[in-house]
Amino acid sequence: MQDHIVKIKNISKLFITKSGPLELFTDVNITFSPSTSYALIGESGVGKSTLLHIASGLEKPSSGEVFFGDKNFWSLKASSQSFLRLNDTAIIFQQYNLIPCLNVKENIEFQSRVNNSYNSEYIEEIIEDLQITRLLGEWPESLSGGEQQRVAIARALAAQPKILFADEPTGSLDEKNSKLVLGMLLNINKKYNTSLVVITHSQAVASKLEVCLELKSKKVSYR
Ligand SMILES: Nc1ncnc2c1ncn2[C@@H]1O[C@H](COP(=O)(O)OP(=O)(O)OP(=O)(O)O)[C@@H](O)[C@H]1O
Ligand SMILES: [Mg+2]
Repeated sequence: MQDHIVKIKNISKLFITKSGPLELFTDVNITFSPSTSYALIGESGVGKSTLLHIASGLEKPSSGEVFFGDKNFWSLKASSQSFLRLNDTAIIFQQYNLIPCLNVKENIEFQSRVNNSYNSEYIEEIIEDLQITRLLGEWPESLSGGEQQRVAIARALAAQPKILFADEPTGSLDEKNSKLVLGMLLNINKKYNTSLVVITHSQAVASKLEVCLELKSKKVSYR
């Protein structure tokens, strides 16, 4: 078995902003191993979401390389990149990013339908666990923040990725739902050997994950 699902090598990211260049991080190296759970912590604005988007192949680094298995992601043609994003990864976005013209059920099934991992029994189980059955016919715009977050979680889990990236997945949830969601993520991690990367500001959440990475002063260190 390969030693990693995703590996990022010597990654730097620089944004050109109105007030000049903004260098978020330089020479970051992380190996995301199979079946392993990671917390990514760091102060607000330090670049955690950007790093997650780079590791998941959504955003291009300013320099460095991103490997999905042995494939150098940014040297692939666009169709191969899309295939890897769709099949190997799923993301729970900080802003949820539900598709406004699809109802809750269609949102949940979306990625699994496109990547052929659709499994109605499995999805039903997720929906019941997240207690969102009564929302299935609703439109995203009519949901509360916490409800949207749970739908985004269901969508990512339904896609059965090799690696699941979760950007503050419990940020809008109360304590009871936070525990439920973290339990589900850890359960998926163990049951299906899905690698898990969770951005969190919560020490309690970070302590439940196997490896803790901190982004600070433009570098990532193991805590
Ligand atoms: N496309 C962009 N263009 C310019 N600047 C950007 C862009 N995306 C992010 N930034 C800036 O990069 C910095 C890091 O943003 P990012 O969202 O990665 O931080 P974060 O660590 O996830 O913060 P939080 O904990 O608040 O979610 C911020 O100052 C942000 O304004
Ligand atoms: Mg963020």
